[in-house]
This record gives sequence, structure tokens and C-alpha cells, in this order.
Amino acid sequence: MKNTTLINFKEVILEKFVPEDAIPAEFALSEQLHQKKYLCNGEMKEWNGKTEPVYSPVCIKRGDILERKLIGSYPVCTEAEAMEALNAAVAAYNHGRGEWPTMSVAKRIECVEKFTKKMLEQKDIVVKLIMWEIGKSYADSIKEFDRTVEYIYATIDALKDLDRHSSRFEIEQGIVAQVRRSPLGVVLCMGPFNYPLNETFTTLIPALIMGNTLLFKPPKHGTLLHYPLLQAFKECFPKGVVNTIYGRGHSIVPALMQSGKIDVLTLIGSSRVADQLKKLHPKVNRLRAILGLDAKNAAIITPKADLALAVQETILGSLSFNGQRCTALKIIFIHHSLADRFIEQLNAAIAKLKFGMPWESGVSITPLPEPGKPAYLAGLIEDAKSHGARVMNENGGETVESFVYPAVLYPVNEKMKVYREEQFGPVVPIVPYYSLEEPVQYLIESTHGQQVSVFSNDPEEVASLIDPLVNQVSRVNINCQCQRGPDVFPFTGRKDSAEGTLSVFDALRSFSIRSLVATKLTDSNKQLLNDIVNSDHSNFLSTKFLF
Ligand code: G3H
Repeated sequence: MKNTTLINFKEVILEKFVPEDAIPAEFALSEQLHQKKYLCNGEMKEWNGKTEPVYSPVCIKRGDILERKLIGSYPVCTEAEAMEALNAAVAAYNHGRGEWPTMSVAKRIECVEKFTKKMLEQKDIVVKLIMWEIGKSYADSIKEFDRTVEYIYATIDALKDLDRHSSRFEIEQGIVAQVRRSPLGVVLCMGPFNYPLNETFTTLIPALIMGNTLLFKPPKHGTLLHYPLLQAFKECFPKGVVNTIYGRGHSIVPALMQSGKIDVLTLIGSSRVADQLKKLHPKVNRLRAILGLDAKNAAIITPKADLALAVQETILGSLSFNGQRCTALKIIFIHHSLADRFIEQLNAAIAKLKFGMPWESGVSITPLPEPGKPAYLAGLIEDAKSHGARVMNENGGETVESFVYPAVLYPVNEKMKVYREEQFGPVVPIVPYYSLEEPVQYLIESTHGQQVSVFSNDPEEVASLIDPLVNQVSRVNINCQCQRGPDVFPFTGRKDSAEGTLSVFDALRSFSIRSLVATKLTDSNKQLLNDIVNSDHSNFLSTKFLF
């Protein structure tokens, strides 16, 4: 009986994949996108070398066979092109004397505004590419694009605000000074596949607008969607300010770091990679790192929780975009007395989630972009089973090619890989606890420290968790899932989860340093400063107010 159900369910999943001619026209890519150009030193350079095919996680049904759809290809450049891009960024920065780092804030904002208008013209194709490259639902791909544009406008507003505060002199103990934030140098920017546009731009845009010059490497899955934006970068910024690098990270990035010419490393990705890259810099003290890294956010559900709400938020937290969010809930601690009821309700809610192709309206669970992920998740599930867990939901973990149906694992214990490893996929491990000290100890021992969700309506209990937990993680969410937004809130983490803080405002600070011009308040110096300000010769020393 069980086997029949499984076979049938495999068929149900298989039915979700469609033949080429059944893809709705409005979501189809009109043609494959074979990228043969990349942006370096203000030029769209031709590439005739090796290329990497881009296969969508969406498979096409050809008879009985499923094949990942080929959607295009991109250049696999070498260390030589990467170094050329680095030299272009170094030359454009020109030790802080380049056109971009010395440009007035008002003019830099104008460039970014012009870029954003051009970016909006490309919305349709960028959104489709997000969907096809990483399998994100069409609705969420639109949200990712819109959220990114909103982030850029919010960044512009925050910078105007910052500049207004800096457009005055301060006088202390007979010293007059003007304090502003100035750029750091050359930034190497690498984003993740799960938010290939948004998370890349939440570092790229603030780094850029603060006057740094950039080397930008798109994520491995989520590369092509940046291609339609390269022309806009070319047209809106001075040459060499934005340069792209394509190719295998491990063969092009180490040399960039070893050159010692990278001043800032900004990476949303794994702590292992960040750690290795930082160590390659010849003078680590000169390198600033702004990093968003691994996380294993926990939910703690106590007997005082609203169980229905906890279920609803656990679904959102652990399964939005198939659990592929750094902020996802990746382990659920539930008081043993509630476990049965919670799992029953969770299973019922999972069974209601729509699964299928990313263009389907209301779809939640979609195919996964990383080719090795289904096998990895199957391995985690098998390992958990071998240590006493069961898959609690019907069809949990059922896999067809790139598609993995969510699996609820229970009871999870410390012997299982899924107890510590960041699954980054649709697997929901549930740990029964007897005392609240158990999840607190888990967080203390964890190598991660991004966020936690606490579910309880008892003020005393919640308060008793808040105080220890704020010193373990960087955000304690009460009765709701973990998340990055709203983007004005600080987004960071402890331990291996982050370095530096991102938010609309914090990112501007992260990618800049305060510099000041100071002098003794004598008559001749007053005259000198007034003359400089009135003659408008300096972009730094200026009292112009940015409206
Ligand atoms: O992948 C990590 C993202 O920053 C999560 O953002 O919480 O808004 O989905 P989100």
C-alpha cells in the first residue's frame, strides 16, 4: 500500500513538470540568453572563450524523460580577466583621487537614480530570469525586484540625510571640524543564489553610492539576470567604477585577494569561503569585511504558545522559497507535551501548500536550483532516520529530479547531521525538549548566531528568554518567524553568521569611514575655511545642503 502511494505521488510530482509547449507564453523566455560580453573598465568586452551553460531547475518533460531546461550561458573568464577588472577598479579609485570617489554626494546620487530608472526598464526580463535561474516563484521574483528598487530609493534618502547632518562645521575645544563619511577603496562584491538580485544589491549599491569602486561577481546560480543591467552600469557610472567578473570563484577570486588591492570584501555566502578568502589577503588588517553568512535559526515553542500561530509561522519560516533563506527557521524546538498536536497541524498545513512550477499562481514549493541539493537532503533524511527520527508527513522528502517535497523530521537529536548542519532546503527538523534550558544550551553551543523565534504568550517566560538570547543572536523574534526585513532594521549576526551590519542606514556606514578636516579656530583659519566653502572648490569641505 505504502509503495503504491509513493509511486502515485512521484507521478503527481512528475505531472507538475510540463513539456516545452505547455509553458505559458507570458512566463516563457523568448530565447536563450548566451552572454558573450562582460563589463570591464567602462567597456562591454567581447568574450570568445569558454562558457558555462545555465540550466534551470525547471525541467522539461520530453516523453518519459525530465531534462533541466537550458536557458543560456555565461563567460567563464580566467584570472587574467579578473586581474584586468581589478586593475580597472584600482585605476578608477586612483588612491581616492578618481572622479567617482571625489564626486559630490549629490552627483553620485544622480548617477544612482539614473541607473535605477534604467534598471526599471529591464524589470520584465530580470524577473523572468530570477524565476528561471533559481526556480523562485514568479510572484516572489517580482517581490525581489521591487524590494531591491525600494532599497535603492531608501538608500538614497538615507544618504541625503547623512549628508545633511555632515554639511556643517562642529566646534569643540577651540577646534573647528567638518566630519563626513568617505569611501574605503576597491570593493569585491559577491552575492548569494537565493536572493541573487536583492542581496547582491544591498551591498553593491551602498558600496557604490559611498564612492567606492567595484568588482562584482554574480552568484553561480543567478548570473544571467544581471546581464540586462550591465549596459545601465556602463552608461550611468564613470569607467572602471563597476566591473564584472565571471568564472569559477575558486580559480579567479584567490588571486584578487592575494593582490592586496581589495580593500573591502563583501560576501553573502558561506563562512567557510569567507574565512578562506580573508586569510589570502596579505594584510588582513587593511581588509574590511562585510559578511552575511550561514545560519541555523531556531524556533522555540513553549506550552504557553498560540499553537496555530506557531504552526503558521513555522511554515513561513521554514518553507518560504523552499527553506532557501539564510533567515529560515532551520530547527524547531517544541515542548514534548505539544509535539504530537504541533506535528499534526504542521503536516496538515504542509499538505495544503501548493507545489509545482514557479509560474503557477499561489505556488509555494518549487524545484531547487543546486543540482546536488536533492541528494544532500536525502542523505540528511537517511542519516536522521538511522538515528531514530521518522519522516512524519505523508510523502515527506519525495524527490523527482530537482523537486523535493518538504519533509518533517521527528524526533531529532544531537546525533543527527540535521541537528547542526544548515540544510538550506525543505526539511523541517523538530526536537522535543523538556526544559527551556535545552534550546538555550543549543544556541550557546551553536556556531551560528543570527536570529531566533520564541513562541509564547507568557510575559514572564518570554522575558526570561529575551535576556539570555539577545546575547546569543542578533534578533529575537517574538511569535513570528525570523526574517531580514524591514530593511531599515539592522541585519547582522554573531559567531559564524555575519560580520558587520547591514540595513539601509548601517550599510552606508559599513562601506565608508569617517574623515574629518580640522583646524584651530583662529581668525586666519576662519577666513581660509570661508574662502574654500564660498569658492565651492572642495566637494568634501562644503556646507551645501542636499534637498
Ligand atoms: O537569505 C537571507 C535573506 O537575507 C533573508 O531575507 O528574511 O527577507 O527572506 P528575508
